[in-house]
Amino acid sequence: MRTHTVDHPLAAALLTTMRDARTDNSAFRTALRDLTRILIYEALRGAPVRHFEIATPVALAEGSRLAQPPLLVPVLRAGLGMVDVAAELIPDARIGFVGIARDEDSHQPVPYMESLPDDLAGLPVYVLDPMLATGGSMRHTLELLVARGATDITAVCVVAAPEGVAALADSGHPVRLITAAIDAGLNENAYIVPGLGDAGDRQFGPR
Ligand code: URA
Repeated sequence: MRTHTVDHPLAAALLTTMRDARTDNSAFRTALRDLTRILIYEALRGAPVRHFEIATPVALAEGSRLAQPPLLVPVLRAGLGMVDVAAELIPDARIGFVGIARDEDSHQPVPYMESLPDDLAGLPVYVLDPMLATGGSMRHTLELLVARGATDITAVCVVAAPEGVAALADSGHPVRLITAAIDAGLNENAYIVPGLGDAGDRQFGPR
């Protein structure tokens, strides 16, 4: 599996704001938006484009646009904070949703909703989830996507644990990972260490 860890001082500064326990919900949401913008830029690097002719005020010129805008799939609830800015950057993107809660005792993913196009053949898919911890939610999402014919999937995550990266690689699914950091590991509650806490609570407040 291809993994790209974004190495950029602005990404590191935004991640620092998100990690800091003193950052309030509003500032956390803003930093997540800004960091998602960087992650999406990186995810799209090298994406196929179509070329066409335009006229500048001075002369004809070659223009380009994405050949195939991806389907964006935020994993609810934490991925919600990533989807608006991704859709602003890729206005032609379609958007699907997957809802997965976490059983706090077993740490297993508990799926509760999906809203996805039936046929994903030939369509790039970007799954948006800030935290790749055990990889359970992401694997469940990959299974939903692959069952619909997806063959080109990008997981866009702010922080990943080595356990989650290994779970994606072992899944055998056609996925690559774009992240801002790969942290040390998971604690006994399956939280990423040092991580940034519960990415849903940090955005929206505790449930
Ligand atoms: N989900 C989170 O929001 N944070 C973690 O550290 C792990 C899973």
